[in-house]
Amino acid sequence: MITIKSSQDIERMRVAGRLAAEVLQVVAPHVKPGVTTAELDRICHDHIVNVQGTIPANVGYGGGPGRIPFPATICASVNNVICHGMPSESKVLKDGDILNIDVTVIKDGWHGDTSRMYLVGEPSIKAKRLVEVTREAMFRGIRAVKPGATLGDIGHAIQKYAEGERFTVVREYCGHGIGRIYHEEPQVLHYGQPMSGVVLQKGMVFTIEPMINEGTRHSKLLNDGWTVVTRDKSLSAQWEHTVAVTDDGVEILTRLPGDDNDL
Ligand code: MF3
Ligand code: CO
Ligand code: CO
Repeated sequence: MITIKSSQDIERMRVAGRLAAEVLQVVAPHVKPGVTTAELDRICHDHIVNVQGTIPANVGYGGGPGRIPFPATICASVNNVICHGMPSESKVLKDGDILNIDVTVIKDGWHGDTSRMYLVGEPSIKAKRLVEVTREAMFRGIRAVKPGATLGDIGHAIQKYAEGERFTVVREYCGHGIGRIYHEEPQVLHYGQPMSGVVLQKGMVFTIEPMINEGTRHSKLLNDGWTVVTRDKSLSAQWEHTVAVTDDGVEILTRLPGDDNDL
């Protein structure tokens, strides 16, 4: 069942979304060679808990029979890590790295989920191209959102563009419905066929969060139970927004008021 959010629900999700986006902005000046991903995690956790008074949704997420709950506030995924990288005191960022920070906050019971890439020092031209293509792939997916369009239209827009740029789309992980529940229906695949799948309706809220690889699309889960890496050790990038289907299109909920509001 896909929940439809009222305009009042969406107003609350706009607040949560902005707060999540604020975390990514606050941590940005700290992303430089020499910092550890554990230190970046502490900076985000402190801002969320002590400045915003919101709840970090990733902490303790995903426990259950035989599963280790996620131990941190952010996912910090460096270079060949596709997603769900665990912050670590021993992961020191170095010049040329590319980093994704993924954060979700809960404000008054509503979730805002967003992630972006950061360049550490001066990455290679190819790494920077991967980062930019992945960002544009996310926006192409977002631009496909309107009432009457389908989830397949979103996946197709992302896949066609990313593969046209000679990169590959990770298939094992996807976007998701979001609201009072962190991960709810529907699954939002980042590949697919136009005019297929669920038809979008006003009031649906979900994430679009493509993971794009430089090499093959295949992933591998490490023994820590969380970290997902590229099988061929090539670079991977990801960007994520939480979006709402509006009367005639789409609204990005995880943007700051000062941001460029063009799609
Ligand atoms: N924020 C991730 C997503 O985009 C999920 C992270 S779950 C965690 O859906 F447990 F790894 F933090
Ligand atoms: Co996320
Ligand atoms: Co998400």
